[in-house]
Amino acid sequence: MTEPVEYLEEQLQANDLSAPETAMILGSGLGGMTDEMDIALSVSYDDVPGLAGSTVEGHAGRFVVGTVGGVDVLGMDGRVHYYETGDMDPIVAPIRTLGEMGCERLLITNAAGGINADYEPGDIMLIEDHINMQGTNPLIGRAGLGDGPMFPDMTTAYSPDLLAEARDLADDSPLTIHDGGVYAATTGPSYETPAEIGMLETVGADAVGMSTVPETIVANQLGMDVVGMSTITNYAAGIVGDPLSHEEVVETIETIEDDLRAYVTALLQRFPEL
Ligand code: 6GU
Repeated sequence: MTEPVEYLEEQLQANDLSAPETAMILGSGLGGMTDEMDIALSVSYDDVPGLAGSTVEGHAGRFVVGTVGGVDVLGMDGRVHYYETGDMDPIVAPIRTLGEMGCERLLITNAAGGINADYEPGDIMLIEDHINMQGTNPLIGRAGLGDGPMFPDMTTAYSPDLLAEARDLADDSPLTIHDGGVYAATTGPSYETPAEIGMLETVGADAVGMSTVPETIVANQLGMDVVGMSTITNYAAGIVGDPLSHEEVVETIETIEDDLRAYVTALLQRFPEL
């Protein structure tokens, strides 16, 4: 057992809890999920001994254990992006910890720019597949650590079963939920140029963001089932011609936040029956 896992298991036991089967990354748009969560235990990343990158300046985050809509979940409240450190360790370490604790499923949300002409700001895209444009891989130098394979298969990086459940629930939501798209991850932090977006469109990307791909790779190495969704916060560069701004991203998130929370809660409630 690794040091972080040992520590978290101790904390769980001391609170009469066991590790939830489902973990979720509270990405952009879902940070407010903790308001609706019945939190039984909160552990700051900083307090977990041996958790790589937990001391990254200004990136205080925490693991929260509790229930959402009656379902046991472990939330990662606060995520690190590659552009913040240029280092995959702070991204990989918490996911590896969850995997080693026995979490079987990982729900990931993010904010992304829309490339597909059918997508509008405020829409949700269920992630069917991804394209890694970050120029690196979180398993480099770490392949084969733990029990996972050195060369994980990525054919079904996003679980077809979980995606089917997410599709099934989409009609019940007031949100416009696109039932499957390809998410491209760039490093950021600058947004793309119109030419770069043209390239991504040509290679089959429907949306573009700066996260999720590293976490999904590590989760697959550990044998976890991943379900991911993107909030389309804005048009990617050159799609409608307006300049991009982080303010627009934040504003769009605010408009869909409540509906997204309800949708995610409904999805989590399906998990125990799967
Ligand atoms: Cl247009 N690009 C990237 N890389 N990330 C984003 C985005 C665009 N819009 C929101 N997040």
